Amino acid sequence: MSRGGSRSRFLRSFLTSPRQVGAVLPTSRRTVRDTLAMAPVESARRVVEIGAGTGVYTREILARIGPEARVLAFEIDPALARALDAEIADPRLSVINDSAAEVAKHLNGATADVIVSAVPFTSLPPGLGRKILEASRAVLAPGGAMLVLQYSPFVEIQLKRTFGSVQRRISPLNVPPAFLYACRIDSNGAAGAR
Ligand SMILES: C[S@@+](CC[C@H](N)C(=O)[O-])C[C@H]1O[C@@H](n2cnc3c(N)ncnc32)[C@H](O)[C@@H]1O
Repeated sequence: MSRGGSRSRFLRSFLTSPRQVGAVLPTSRRTVRDTLAMAPVESARRVVEIGAGTGVYTREILARIGPEARVLAFEIDPALARALDAEIADPRLSVINDSAAEVAKHLNGATADVIVSAVPFTSLPPGLGRKILEASRAVLAPGGAMLVLQYSPFVEIQLKRTFGSVQRRISPLNVPPAFLYACRIDSNGAAGAR
């Protein structure tokens, strides 16, 4: 699928469910790279992606991980999930058309070394963002990191409450400019989202 084709698919999804998608364009390549530079994705054995959309993060994650690593990509929009599954023929990838709040069910007791999220926490239905953060924290491997892309800093306080350790950077070459977070569980700090 051409870049134009995947952009119009993304825009259709936004027009149908603007609060669920939260952006009119997929994330820029530069911002995807800025995000993934915040954790050692190359050495991850299992990566969970939340809100895969047209796969801009998915492709870059697959390009970085090793041959034995796995990516579970969650996408709640059935049309986007179907297209992603059809477009990327890589045995390391499983596209899951379910809410990221159900991540534990799909991991069957396993953990994720890196979680990459682009879901728009501030516009999701009440309580869902918190559920996704708690579910993500619960499956994060010791020493692992959750990378979060947002278009505002409003979720930062909830990230700090959930994980304890939160590093932030801004990626200006995106429409709109993005706030990027790397969250790690600080055993002296967070005890789950409140
Ligand atoms: C801002 S878009 C990001 C898409 C893509 N990762 C990118 O960076 O271009 C957010 C995506 O999250 C998906 N999404 C929203 N809520 C979700 C949920 N609870 N579980 C899984 N995906 C979700 C939306 O359908 C949308 O594709």
